[in-house]
Amino acid sequence: MPEAPEGGDAHEADTTETRDALAERRGLDAPVYAPAEDSGLLAGAAVEHARGVTLEVGTGSGWVADRVRTEGDATRVIGSDVNPHACERAHDRGVEAIRGDLLGPFRDGALDTVLFNPPYLPTDPDNEWDDWQEVALSGGESGRDLIEPFLDDLARALAPDGVALLLVSSLAGFADVVEYAVARGLHAETVAEESYPFETLSILALRHRTDRE
Ligand SMILES: C[S@@+](CC[C@H](N)C(=O)[O-])C[C@H]1O[C@@H](n2cnc3c(N)ncnc32)[C@H](O)[C@@H]1O
Repeated sequence: MPEAPEGGDAHEADTTETRDALAERRGLDAPVYAPAEDSGLLAGAAVEHARGVTLEVGTGSGWVADRVRTEGDATRVIGSDVNPHACERAHDRGVEAIRGDLLGPFRDGALDTVLFNPPYLPTDPDNEWDDWQEVALSGGESGRDLIEPFLDDLARALAPDGVALLLVSSLAGFADVVEYAVARGLHAETVAEESYPFETLSILALRHRTDRE
């Protein structure tokens, strides 16, 4: 396991590995994101926490959704993605796949569990690739271009006692993501974390905030 960066809060780690190096490790040539450390961290937490109707937003190859389907306690597991190649790959793996944008296709309160490993690499607008790998990796300038609209709509789609597991990288600003979620009426709690030399990955469990909080 890689060591946490030295000198203080791991969430504030500097980006020492470039976006290109990360992209290369994650399979730039493929039209569908290859499961990596982030996928593994999300899958482990999801197998433990997923219940009822479970949606993996941005399912990619369907690997995470398939682990939840075969190892977890969810009653139904759906994978969605904007990338049609990803939907096909997930379907071939046995995952019920839907093509769509974030939570848009899903009814109010329909989801007991939502999983999302978002595209989060901060990307210079002059340096975009314009292909499916960019769609899988790039989180825009802040790294939060997909995270924020997802959080804007989450409380609507989540069942009253539902939970969302969101993978958050320190590269996208952990504290900023938590602050944004809390401002949208959500309670946020870290349920898993792994540190690498270039980033810390956390799984945030997000729930409706109760009146008592
Ligand atoms: C980092 S990859 C994660 C893939 C897979 N869940 C995993 O963990 O291995 C992000 C995925 O989100 C998908 N995606 C990007 N924008 C999306 C959107 N607006 N709605 C749904 N999925 C999206 C990408 O196509 C990609 O498959």
